[in-house]
Amino acid sequence: MRSILNPFTPAFGGKPQHFFGRTEELALIENAFENEFSPYRALFITGNRGCGKTSILEQVSEKACAHGWLAVDVHAEEALMSAVKKLTGGTDRTISKNLQPQFAGLSVGSAATVTSKHYTGMDLADVMIEKLKGVNACQGIFVSVDEVQKISEPDAEGLCAALQMAMRKGYPVMLVMAGLPGSKEKIGSYAGCTFMQRTFEIKLSSLLIPETYEAFERLLATMPTVAVGEGAVDRLARFSLGYPYLMQLIGYYAVEQMCQSGFVGAFCLNEGDVAAAESEAYTAYRNNVLKAVTEPLRNGARAYLTSVAKVLDNTGRARTEKVAAALNKELSQCSTDRQRLIDRRLLVPDGWGYVRFNLPYLSRYLLEEALENGTAPANPDAWLF
Ligand SMILES: Nc1ncnc2c1ncn2[C@@H]1O[C@H](COP(=O)(O)OP(=O)(O)OP(=O)(O)O)[C@@H](O)[C@H]1O
Ligand SMILES: [Mg+2]
Repeated sequence: MRSILNPFTPAFGGKPQHFFGRTEELALIENAFENEFSPYRALFITGNRGCGKTSILEQVSEKACAHGWLAVDVHAEEALMSAVKKLTGGTDRTISKNLQPQFAGLSVGSAATVTSKHYTGMDLADVMIEKLKGVNACQGIFVSVDEVQKISEPDAEGLCAALQMAMRKGYPVMLVMAGLPGSKEKIGSYAGCTFMQRTFEIKLSSLLIPETYEAFERLLATMPTVAVGEGAVDRLARFSLGYPYLMQLIGYYAVEQMCQSGFVGAFCLNEGDVAAAESEAYTAYRNNVLKAVTEPLRNGARAYLTSVAKVLDNTGRARTEKVAAALNKELSQCSTDRQRLIDRRLLVPDGWGYVRFNLPYLSRYLLEEALENGTAPANPDAWLF
């Protein structure tokens, strides 16, 4: 007999049943709704797959509504058109344009009304300003764009132009873009988006250690009929390393494991349930995060990353000289690949001449792959089968 509602919801892109952590980030962003001088009114949220960009964006969007702002949440594909359509109630916008047909070099000006599916930044600025004027005006307009690494250049430029125009005229507007590491640099390099180079960037990664423990305790407490055995929260926290998707996965599978273990008078989530859930949680994380972040890497960068995994010391750092030597290369020959991996936030520099991994279990995954490909280093202490 089972009557437990699992509080963990490891679904990508879906809203988590219980949101945890990110208190500081949310406070900073929330302040921007009330404070017209907040530097967070144009903002990037970046991080690797599964760190919780979409989840936090949804929280911010809800907060925008709670502050009386109109939230316009769009995906990067067709971002400009979606934003205009959402603001105009889902229909193609009718725009009054000063059409200038050209006849044999002569320009004949005439005002006309056209229905357009292709919008410019100025069209978006117009509809935003319309919504922000008058007696029924909302407090402000909040635009969020998810997966922004996929946005087209014209759409990015249109959104930026609209925001800049509305801001220039003194209207309360806010733009938050969420995407993979490097999104800010990519978008900031577009000719019409240079002001985005100077915007703030919140770089998401794992939760802090106390936040991780607090989150597990809080979610487990939502199951009033479940006792929590000694060591269970510690094992959940340590396995997840505070990475939000891993937290959802290990929590979910541990609760499922407990339910399968059977009901003996009362439910109790034990350390053993967590241990038994680890392999399933890791497999899902491996397929949905580790594969996804390493697949786009070029051969050189991938080889560098694998070498880092092979020469890690017992504090989790790798000496860059050793990494280069393992690749039979000079240190200088590796600098482009190393920098690329740091830009993608898969590695971080750790002291002069050292790097470490910046994503949970990436090193383990690369070694597993190397083993499968027969390129793992021979370990003199290993059993031979
Ligand atoms: N702060 C959080 N509280 C609760 N669950 C979270 C939190 N952040 C992320 N998650 C959960 O982790 C998983 C991944 O989150 P999300 O989809 O937001 O990641 P993402 O960074 O947008 O990933 P991607 O780059 O693939 O789009 C989801 O199951 C989500 O519910
Ligand atoms: Mg996402």
